[in-house]
Amino acid sequence: MSFQKLNMQDYLSQHQDRFIEELKDLLRIPSVSADPKYKDDVLRMANTTMQSLVDAGAENVELCETPGYPIVYAEKIIDPSKPTVLVYGHYDVQPADPVELWDSPPFEPVVKDGKIYARGSADDKGQFYMHVKAFEMMMRTDSLPCNVKFMIEGEEEIGSEGLSWFVPRNKEKLACDVILISDTSLIANDVPSITTGLRGLSYLEVEVTGPNRDLHSGVYGGAVANPINILCDMISDLIDDNGHITIPGFYDDVQDLSSEERVEMNKAPFDLNEYKRELDVEAVRGEKGYTTIERASIRPTLDVNGIWGGYIGEGAKTVLPAKASAKISMRLVPNQTSQKITKMFKEHFENVAPDYVKVKVTPHHGGEAVVTAIDSIAYKAASRAMETTFGKKPIPTRGGGSIPIVALFKKELDRDSILMGFGLDSDDIHSPNESYGIFNYLKGIETIPEFFKNFANQ
Ligand code: BES
Ligand code: MN
Ligand code: MN
Repeated sequence: MSFQKLNMQDYLSQHQDRFIEELKDLLRIPSVSADPKYKDDVLRMANTTMQSLVDAGAENVELCETPGYPIVYAEKIIDPSKPTVLVYGHYDVQPADPVELWDSPPFEPVVKDGKIYARGSADDKGQFYMHVKAFEMMMRTDSLPCNVKFMIEGEEEIGSEGLSWFVPRNKEKLACDVILISDTSLIANDVPSITTGLRGLSYLEVEVTGPNRDLHSGVYGGAVANPINILCDMISDLIDDNGHITIPGFYDDVQDLSSEERVEMNKAPFDLNEYKRELDVEAVRGEKGYTTIERASIRPTLDVNGIWGGYIGEGAKTVLPAKASAKISMRLVPNQTSQKITKMFKEHFENVAPDYVKVKVTPHHGGEAVVTAIDSIAYKAASRAMETTFGKKPIPTRGGGSIPIVALFKKELDRDSILMGFGLDSDDIHSPNESYGIFNYLKGIETIPEFFKNFANQ
């Protein structure tokens, strides 16, 4: 008796319900890397990820220890003379806060209107798991055309420190021809795109201290500087009326794009009215002389991510607080360096602080921007893969978010990354009610083997 092996299409339709259930199981694990309270869950997520790769047919599957959370490593080497794809993803997620704004509990996935709602559904569990399932599918249908290695980390959302330690120490283990990452978005489900650039990041915290203790805002108010008022002044001075960042030297290293490149990128489908409507804003604001697409991808930014101080409980309390703090991020573009920018910010902020307060600037993590070529074998393999499964050639787009480890891969492994993500900007990653479309999940699983096929036949 002979068995006809299923082809991949049939395999996918027969197993898609299980693929969705398995993803939901992963989403039940609150693997929040930022909060030590979830340490056991993050480790459980690492083990579950590891087991999923064993089940899919990978070899040498292991948890690699780092100073932080472990890295899940796995491989399937079919022939050392064939090309090797290194798949990168992250099994950690952002905190779910503010939990009260979720329509359903963040770690109890529900499917509604064709989307899976849960923290991490799009960023990045749904996306890295597409690779595990695509690999399973290639294994079970005897159609893995080249070698594959997996490296799924658990600290992406907190700066990838463990991985930055691991990569330079394991160059041979990680040797590959290309790195394939699904952790970005498409323009729309009917407008496929491939991300060809990411912004860098410089993230820091500032603290402004006034008097040596909280004061009565009637007894002392008007006579002693209020650190919250001062912090607000100082922050608003960081951006001028034209939307330019005022830190001296901030733009020195910024690479301007040619006008051809700018014209090209603005051809991407984009409707400003729809954008404003979707966000419920009457107008957008940004750097003068640049379009919304440009402001959100090729220009550097400065944003307050959180600000606190004084009394924020129920009702009113009259107080002139002793301290005020803020978390500030700057998105950087190619050629800017996060270390240099962080130093510039620190010096500037300390310089402009008035005598009546003291300021303390504490750097957090950083990372460098990247741009990838669109004439490489790997880009063409990705482009053809998406063209096959979407029926349309994908548009190259520069993303506004950051995946700092991509620049490190280039530096340490001398390899480019292909950012073939399947999310949507409307997935609400990092926000309440994060979701990932079932269409996107299955489309990713369908497209990944096409990439492997194209890349192996380069
Ligand atoms: N997947 C995102 C990055 C992303 C999202 C890029 C959408 C492009 C489009 C990633 O998990 C992320 O959130 N990165 C952080 C940086 C990190 C150092 C905390 C970011 O961009 O804020
Ligand atoms: Mn991510
Ligand atoms: Mn993220």
